[in-house]
Amino acid sequence: MSEPPQNDAAAATEEPEYQSGFGNHFSSEARPGALPRGQNSPLICPLGLYAEQISGTSFTAPRKHNQRSWLYRIKPSVTHKPFDRRVPRHDRLVGEFDRSTSSATPTQLRWRPADVPDSPVDFVDGLYTVCGAGSTFLRHGYAIHMYAANKSMDNCAFCNADGDFLIVPQQGRMWITTECGRLFVSPGEIVVLPQGLRFLVDLPDGPSRGYVAEVFGVHFQLPDLGPIGANGLAAPRDFLVPTAWFEEKFHPGYTIVQKFGGELFVAEQDFSPFNVVAWHGNYVPYKYDLNKFCPFNTVLIDHGDPSINTVLTAPSDKPGIALLDFVIFPPRWLVSEHTFRPPYYHRNCMSEFMGLIYGVYDAKADGFLPGGASLHSCMTPHGPDTKTFEATIAHGMDADPFRIKNTMAFMFESYLIPRVCPWVLDSPYLDCDYYQCWIGLKSHFSGEGSDRTGGAQQDEIMAVKGD
Ligand SMILES: [Fe+2]
Repeated sequence: MSEPPQNDAAAATEEPEYQSGFGNHFSSEARPGALPRGQNSPLICPLGLYAEQISGTSFTAPRKHNQRSWLYRIKPSVTHKPFDRRVPRHDRLVGEFDRSTSSATPTQLRWRPADVPDSPVDFVDGLYTVCGAGSTFLRHGYAIHMYAANKSMDNCAFCNADGDFLIVPQQGRMWITTECGRLFVSPGEIVVLPQGLRFLVDLPDGPSRGYVAEVFGVHFQLPDLGPIGANGLAAPRDFLVPTAWFEEKFHPGYTIVQKFGGELFVAEQDFSPFNVVAWHGNYVPYKYDLNKFCPFNTVLIDHGDPSINTVLTAPSDKPGIALLDFVIFPPRWLVSEHTFRPPYYHRNCMSEFMGLIYGVYDAKADGFLPGGASLHSCMTPHGPDTKTFEATIAHGMDADPFRIKNTMAFMFESYLIPRVCPWVLDSPYLDCDYYQCWIGLKSHFSGEGSDRTGGAQQDEIMAVKGD
């Protein structure tokens, strides 16, 4: 068992041991014999531990969706004083998206990367909601948050009763200690922390920044692959789940910070909640390295829809329609012939929030920076900026295969229309001139036929019509 990393900036940055797979029924014990054999809740658990179940789905959810884990711990998590509203209140988290908390706007929005504050801020206080839809209480909807923090959480753990967090770090690595064990997460990786699981975030690099998607009432799953077949996109075995890790410490004044209905509550206890000596189940935190993604796309003509690069999806009740998809735009070859290769201009019934982890996104020559973000809501037009369009057209029909390198953009996409929080609409990081990137698009209409339109296939079509 390696040393705990908490609150030690020089903490080890070696990866702990993980288990591999997605949706498995995992099991792990930090002490041999700690897991009960043959049953979940023996009268006396091995090593004198308490048995405690955490249910991520209702008891009666169909077996293929049912998620729960059994935790065997030194003291049960109920051992704490009553919850009180946290003081000071966190006034930039939203769990109910309505007129009282957020605004509707169809305008294309873009933000420059936020500076990490100079004053000490941990992950919880550095977290702020950008936009979202629905309600944590009604168990339907999502929130998109960002964070800018510089300090490890101290003598406290966070518990999000509202939904699953999918965290996309953009700057700064994270040690995330959970009840199931520890994960070391670097920019370029993502981590999913399921609803209700207690965790703490240590920031060994200090200044840190990133994005968080939170889904209410549903969990992330791997997308179906359809005609792609049995392999491709994110492989189940590349998802990493912690192994059991515990500490038995007297922690006077230790605080559980619980997000409940978008508000923060606190409860004191005098021991670490990371006291799970063994566990088994399929309700687990996990991480994934986006560089392991196996992207697919067109190999002859046209531009695939971005859904082709879905890493994880949180489904709605409607088949094929996501409450929230997590899609990436990783390094890849562009090879299509006589095709406009950057993303096409479009309007979408789905709403699209984008972030950039590193590099340059191929639809925006400038202005969309690592750590920044954009939001194109339902039916709001968007697409490549003027500079990208003109540069692409200038290449002409004979563009060689081209490898997009050193970039990682992503999108959170939802069929629910997000309302936007006031602090990001009033933010000094809001790019008020975003619309200017398209204003310069000029008419190329000539009024006459041109061999620039359609290329070889158009010639074939015309030949057929001529017959
Ligand atoms: Fe789009």
